[in-house]
Amino acid sequence: MDKLCVSGGRPLVGSVNIGGMKNAALPIIFATILVNDICVLENLPDVSDIKNALEILRRMGAEIKEIDRFTYSIDTRPVRSNSVPLDLARNMRGSYYVLGAELGRFGRSFTSLPGGCNLGARPIDQHIKGFEALGATVNCTSGISCYTEKPLEGAQIYMDVASVGATANIMIAAACASGMTVIDNAAREPHIVDLANFLNSCGADISGAGTEVIKIRGVESLHGGTYAIIPDMIEAGTYMIAAAATKGDLTINNVIPRHLEATTRKLLEMGVEVEEGDDYVRVRYDGKLKKVRVKTDFYPGFPTDMNPQFCVLLCLAEGESRITESVMDSRFKYTDELIRMGARITVQGRDAIITGVEAFTPSTVRAVDLRAGAAMVIAALSTAGTTFIDDIHHIERGYEDLVGKLRSVGADIERVSTNN
Ligand code: EPU
Repeated sequence: MDKLCVSGGRPLVGSVNIGGMKNAALPIIFATILVNDICVLENLPDVSDIKNALEILRRMGAEIKEIDRFTYSIDTRPVRSNSVPLDLARNMRGSYYVLGAELGRFGRSFTSLPGGCNLGARPIDQHIKGFEALGATVNCTSGISCYTEKPLEGAQIYMDVASVGATANIMIAAACASGMTVIDNAAREPHIVDLANFLNSCGADISGAGTEVIKIRGVESLHGGTYAIIPDMIEAGTYMIAAAATKGDLTINNVIPRHLEATTRKLLEMGVEVEEGDDYVRVRYDGKLKKVRVKTDFYPGFPTDMNPQFCVLLCLAEGESRITESVMDSRFKYTDELIRMGARITVQGRDAIITGVEAFTPSTVRAVDLRAGAAMVIAALSTAGTTFIDDIHHIERGYEDLVGKLRSVGADIERVSTNN
């Protein structure tokens, strides 16, 4: 029931370090079930979704040791089939990766329908299509069950949507299938490349990750090893926007600037200064913000997970801007919260039309989902006066030590208990 209390209006100045990418870490954590050995994962983000995923594996029998805050050793040899704790699995979207991993290892899996942010209909038909192509029978009457009588066999799979989740799940299931699997119209996100690199480091034979055609030549078995997760491009992008919205000057360290290109380009178009180094970006406010049009898209397009944060910046730009959401069905629920803070936004279907205002008005708002919560924090940081943000459990699912990192660059933000 805690909330965030933000006294804004101060520029963020200094440097922050970016953690590992939640959406890369999740499929990799579940893929360790398929590896059936000891994996040491480094650079795991310290966020509740990752804690939840590790707890799911622990309850399935895995032996998990915390080596340090960001490094865990996971021994999945003792994992029992058909042991997914449904109460935990239903709380998070990424738990559906257990399906590909268990199907690949045991030939069967059962889990609950996945939870996660409410961003409209989030079907899993492409996951099912992939598992069925590999020879599994899938039933979704109460939860999701998949099983196969004979070993999975490689197949040609054309994805109707370049879904991140389905691409990753099929890659995991196919890694130890017999023969070759080809995923056409695959997702190209950096987390797909990270999953392929992890599986290959464990002995898989996957090529083409990062392009729309991924080839997976099934291998007999995998082996454990040590692997470091890539930096979180959405966490980094969030701090980039926060720097610009607070008229600040932030150096964002431990990033892969290429992954941030879509956000960088849009910031430059708005008149924000962005300097790229080998593993950092420096973002500096440089006078008035110009209006722009943004359309979210699959990677390398502008990420849907940056839609709410970017909208906050557009609220502070001169004139009329527009965001078109083309990945998720319903991503604009957060706009009601920004309107509470004085924003002028009209949503028409998949478009939000934003008329710039001088500043937001401090208020009490909710984090309606993970990225929406980050957007509220940025809006509050940019605004003189005190804003309270409720439902912060959403934010804590995906932002590591947000309060500590922001305080270290000059923000006045604290987590307060509502019981006081
Ligand atoms: N889709 C289908 N059928 C499917 C799968 C997806 O039609 O079988 C559609 C979805 O309805 C959506 C689009 O394809 O319209 C993209 O969905 P995708 O499968 O790529 O997304 P996801 O795997 O459900 C992951 C992230 C999201 C992120 C999206 C897009 C995880 C756990 N979640 O979701 O992350 O928004 O990819 O990049 O990796 C977040 O971190 O805040 C978050 C919501």
